[in-house]
Amino acid sequence: MQNFEYYNRTKIIFGKGTEERTGSETARYSKRVLLHHSGGSVVRTGYLDKVKESLKAAGVSWVELDGVKPNPRLSLVHQGVEICKREKLDFVLAVGGGSVIDSAKAIAIGALYDGDVWDFYDRKKTAVEALPVATVLTIPAAGSESSISSVITNEAGPWKRAVDEECLRPVFSILNPEATFTLPAFQTACGVADMLAHIMERYFTKESHVELTDELCEGAMRAIIRNARRVITGGGALDYDARAELMWAGSIAHNNLLGTGRIGDWGSHMIEHEISAVFDIAHGAGLAIVFPAWIAYNLKEDTPRLARFAAKVWGVDGAFYDYEQAVLEGIFRMKNFFKSIGLPVSFEDAKLDSAKIPLMAEQAVKFGPVGNYRKLYAQDIEAIYRLALK
Ligand code: NZQ
Ligand code: ZN
Repeated sequence: MQNFEYYNRTKIIFGKGTEERTGSETARYSKRVLLHHSGGSVVRTGYLDKVKESLKAAGVSWVELDGVKPNPRLSLVHQGVEICKREKLDFVLAVGGGSVIDSAKAIAIGALYDGDVWDFYDRKKTAVEALPVATVLTIPAAGSESSISSVITNEAGPWKRAVDEECLRPVFSILNPEATFTLPAFQTACGVADMLAHIMERYFTKESHVELTDELCEGAMRAIIRNARRVITGGGALDYDARAELMWAGSIAHNNLLGTGRIGDWGSHMIEHEISAVFDIAHGAGLAIVFPAWIAYNLKEDTPRLARFAAKVWGVDGAFYDYEQAVLEGIFRMKNFFKSIGLPVSFEDAKLDSAKIPLMAEQAVKFGPVGNYRKLYAQDIEAIYRLALK
């Protein structure tokens, strides 16, 4: 097991009616904030109004910036930075999903910086300070509500890049599973694929003695799969308990508890980010395409670990298969699961133009090879995309 330091400052406020706490929690930090959201689902569902009522009751005023789109854009971040500087705002409150939260985090670093905030995403600068960010989450998926990451798309490329720094971790996050009742099945499924991927990225490690976190990862993945079935194919869109399991799982999957003592991989995320940059598809859908292909490409890398994944997560009974067959059966079951919840598992399913593959493979290695479980260069990434063609 590797040495590690585990620290996660995000205060999680979880459960029914918790959005009513937004105002009092925010007031501990600021009385005048940037309120950031999509202007879409949170308005339609009335959830934003509840948040505003809570802010008002606590004497917190706000300047509003809406318009965040999935795969959040740099141009809106620039507007947010401008507003924070002009209005001297010192706190950013995000109401929405990973895209809104990531946009809020980008604004929070940009507000304290004189140059272009893209410098941080282009690795010309390291983010050491940011305005405090808090979140009221509406979709369990990205885990941004307690992560150190922000992922932004620069339309000029398009390039999708991440900043991962401690100063970006939200100070508090409010998670009411009832707010997720309105999620369409497809968005729920994308979130499920993303949280599974966040665990798999950590699970696939060369570290040999990480028994506790291996078991935690496997248990978490099984719970996600079970509850995803309940919500998406079992008619449980309004099933509070199943929604609650998924919502907490989304945070646990990415708050790095499951990454302690081990070095995770993260290659599949880099490979996926190029897909959502170029085709503007949902991150989770891109991961459902990439991850089975990534496992297939690694078939000979560490077969016992891959076979254990097939057995413990997908129920492949080792008595009937050799290692390699077990891995293949695990991939088969994983793809069937993704398909059953409405996700694409290939370029063909998602109608992606394969002519872009060489460009995406090149862009994925802009900062060098990706992945730790196995280092991947442009030709490896191209081969993985090609394994996902059909
Ligand atoms: O845009 P609106 O109208 O609000 O609708 C959203 C959006 O279309 C909808 N939605 C959200 N909550 C809803 C709802 N619809 C009905 N009812 C609700 N309660 O869902 C759609 C997707 O929202 P989005 O915020 O884009 O989803 P997600 O949370 O999956 O975030 C995706 C982004 O996060 C990045 C991804 O790359 C992607 O850009 N990631 C961020 C990470 C991080 N910061 O730690 C890590 C991840 O690996 C990921 O890369
Ligand atoms: Zn992800």
